[in-house]
Amino acid sequence: MKRARIISTGRYVPEKIVTNDEMTRLVPTSNEWIRERTGILQRHFVDREIGVSDLGYEAAKIALQRAALKPSDIDFIIFATLSPDYMFPGSGCPLQALLGVPGIGALDVRTQCTGFVYGLAVANAFIAAGQYKRILLVGAEVHSTGLEFTERGRHIAVLFGDGAGAAVIEASENGRGVLSTHLHADGRHVKDLWAENPGSRRIPRMYPGILEDGSCYPQMNGREVFKHAVTKFPEVIMEALKANDLSLDDVKLVIPHQANLRISEAVTQRLGLPPEKVFNNIQRYGNTTAASIPIALDEALEMGKIQEGDLVVLASFGSGFTWASAAIRW
Ligand code: UT7
Repeated sequence: MKRARIISTGRYVPEKIVTNDEMTRLVPTSNEWIRERTGILQRHFVDREIGVSDLGYEAAKIALQRAALKPSDIDFIIFATLSPDYMFPGSGCPLQALLGVPGIGALDVRTQCTGFVYGLAVANAFIAAGQYKRILLVGAEVHSTGLEFTERGRHIAVLFGDGAGAAVIEASENGRGVLSTHLHADGRHVKDLWAENPGSRRIPRMYPGILEDGSCYPQMNGREVFKHAVTKFPEVIMEALKANDLSLDDVKLVIPHQANLRISEAVTQRLGLPPEKVFNNIQRYGNTTAASIPIALDEALEMGKIQEGDLVVLASFGSGFTWASAAIRW
């Protein structure tokens, strides 16, 4: 049986670091408020007009180089983002142009925080079906250009950061790779974490006042997100383990989407996992949405936290609501 195996990863974040103290110059907030409620100490923001495809390209180059591959060795591109370069086309197309591989398919995944796990599930299905042998999966976000730096937007503006992560995925037949993926959504919660406009259901789509009414900025019912996240994360992690007849004792590392350190801590506690089994780096990056898992995975690999044969569980929850997990035999 063919499985998708991540053979290499890469990450890229823009150089500019915005500390919590620097954030106090952008919105009325404090280092203490941000640190205590989210665990975030700093995030990276772009400092010029640069797209998610550019960030994704930098991460992809590193992943390809580590796998000793050229862009032409890739059969297909999957790009996960909620902040695409353009309204359309999706960011997989400009990334493909940057890589210089015209002709191969490029698919954007629009499931926000769960984009990387959904993308991995798509890659795994293509590979299991024999349609592609080698897929480039990228998760990237430029949030900073679309946040509302006012008192109204401060509870969201302090959370998010820019960045990209990439994975080269190959067909494997030796049992290593993705064991299973588990994808969920509950569209009743669309309005709990969303950016309403410009949306195609409004006539006309663009209108004067779109900035003033705030509907072009992300809106979040933070408490509702928190409440569901701390239930769905443990549920979907256990679902992945049960599907493979495994238990928490078998897990080497859980890599959760980096939504909020308090969410990760609550999930760790609910599962009764030792803290060293749950990877956290939101302190340095903020919430980078579709990029958070591949950035974390890349760091965990670099730190030697994952070795061949280890069981790794990726898990995510976010806008949609969507939630998802993947069990991986490394
Ligand atoms: O991938 C999913 C992304 N989202 C998440 O993971 C977020 C999940 N939610 C959360 O983590 C929390 O809801 C937040 C950390 C975002 C916010 O915490 P909260 O306790 O739900 O805060 P709140 O929005 O209810 O605001 C509490 C207080 C308010 O003041 P009053 O009314 O109590 O006087 C806000 O005005 O905190 C104030 N506040 C701030 N103060 C300083 C809100 N944002 C800020 C801020 N700095 N940035």
